[in-house]
Amino acid sequence: MYRKAGINIGDPRGFGGHVWIDMWAPVSIAEDVLMGGYTFILTHTWMGTPKVEGVTIKRGAQIGVRVIIMPGVTIGVAATVGAGSVVTHNVPDYAVVAGSPARLLRMKK
Ligand SMILES: CC(C)(COP(=O)(O)OP(=O)(O)OC[C@H]1O[C@@H](n2cnc3c(N)ncnc32)[C@H](O)[C@@H]1OP(=O)(O)O)[C@@H](O)C(=O)NCCC(=O)NCCS
Repeated sequence: MYRKAGINIGDPRGFGGHVWIDMWAPVSIAEDVLMGGYTFILTHTWMGTPKVEGVTIKRGAQIGVRVIIMPGVTIGVAATVGAGSVVTHNVPDYAVVAGSPARLLRMKK
């Protein structure tokens, strides 16, 4: 893992282009994560209830293309997030979620 300006990124399985991560609170991306292109990882919002909270993506998680991950969210070990999802709540380990807001489709185990 290396640390730079509040972001920890482990050795990824793959990272798409144009992934955008804001820098208001710490972001931790574990090893072996697959990250689809055009994904936004947000750690702050002034709209609605103001919030500044970090995001954690755990080992082996798979994030589809064009996903938006909202402040404070943790994505669990080996979880999958469908393309185009808006993730507003924590995603359990081994869950498959999709949609806006992202809902549980199934558990891998
Ligand atoms: C979420 C995903 C993993 C689910 O795959 P799956 O388990 O094979 O699920 P299915 O295709 O059988 O779909 C199950 C249901 O979820 C819905 N669904 C699937 N993907 C969805 C998505 N991205 N957003 C919203 N709903 C989705 C389907 O419409 C279906 O709903 P229904 O039962 O009402 O018809 C997959 O559809 C996906 O989005 N993969 C990511 C693709 C991607 O971004 N690839 C690039 C990676 S670098």
